[in-house]
Amino acid sequence: MEERKLRAIITGGSRGIGKAILVELAKRNCISVMFSDVAVEGDDFNAHAKKIEDEIGNGTKVYGFKADASKFDEAEATIAEAVEKMGGVDIMINNAGITRDNLLMRMTEADFDLVININLKSVFNYTKAAMRPMMKQRYGKIVNIASVVGLMGNAGQANYSASKAGVIGFTKTMARELSSRNINVNAIAPGFIETDMTSKLNDNQKEALLTNVPLKRMGQPEDIAKAVAFLCSSDADYITGQVLTVDGGMVM
Ligand SMILES: NC(=O)c1ccc[n+]([C@@H]2O[C@H](COP(=O)([O-])OP(=O)(O)OC[C@H]3O[C@@H](n4cnc5c(N)ncnc54)[C@H](O)[C@@H]3O)[C@@H](O)[C@H]2O)c1
Repeated sequence: MEERKLRAIITGGSRGIGKAILVELAKRNCISVMFSDVAVEGDDFNAHAKKIEDEIGNGTKVYGFKADASKFDEAEATIAEAVEKMGGVDIMINNAGITRDNLLMRMTEADFDLVININLKSVFNYTKAAMRPMMKQRYGKIVNIASVVGLMGNAGQANYSASKAGVIGFTKTMARELSSRNINVNAIAPGFIETDMTSKLNDNQKEALLTNVPLKRMGQPEDIAKAVAFLCSSDADYITGQVLTVDGGMVM
């Protein structure tokens, strides 16, 4: 295992996949980690960070910062806070995301814009803000959380699948633009993962979705976190511009 010395930021990292990524990075690669989010239980970001820090229990420092990932100035404020508290940023995980599903016939313009802003513009915001310190230090790992529906489409998710396909295009372009500064940019495309986002599905919907999953189970947030930690490790130094599907074999 590598020496833990890196510093990471995870957007939307207070729960679900983002929190699992934060915990995994803290166990493997990082000496300090920061989550940004719009809300946490009780709205006490310090208490939430301390709770996660105690859960991890290996001395990794955990920070929380209230920021809306769809707002550029709030992304810049997050990076400034990270540089002040952690001394820099080595790993940027763009994970914040939402769904507002509906067939296009019934999808409102507001729900299209909201999903694009939170899922796609946020990736522009945080990449642009984090690349400055990364370029200066000539080191960085950026991992963007896309989705299999950005690759294959899904009825009822025109806004969401467009945002995730956008994340994939953005990832490949950034991999090309930032490679000369030793910054790797990759995406993970999760399949069907058990979190708050999928908890609204009823048993029949889940069963129907699982017929398309060769491994015949939903993924756990930790399944995504382990793949992210690999892409953030030195074992992945020669990997950039890739989309890794972690989906039980759904897309192949
Ligand atoms: N769960 C799945 O099956 C699945 C599949 C593919 C991709 N994903 C992606 O994984 C990522 C994490 O999703 P999850 O399943 O953990 O969902 P989740 O709803 O549990 O977590 C999403 C997090 O993002 C935060 N968030 C929402 N809007 C935000 C904003 N404007 N600014 C900052 N943070 C914001 C939420 O507060 C929450 O903490 C998302 O990008 C999602 O699209 C999830």
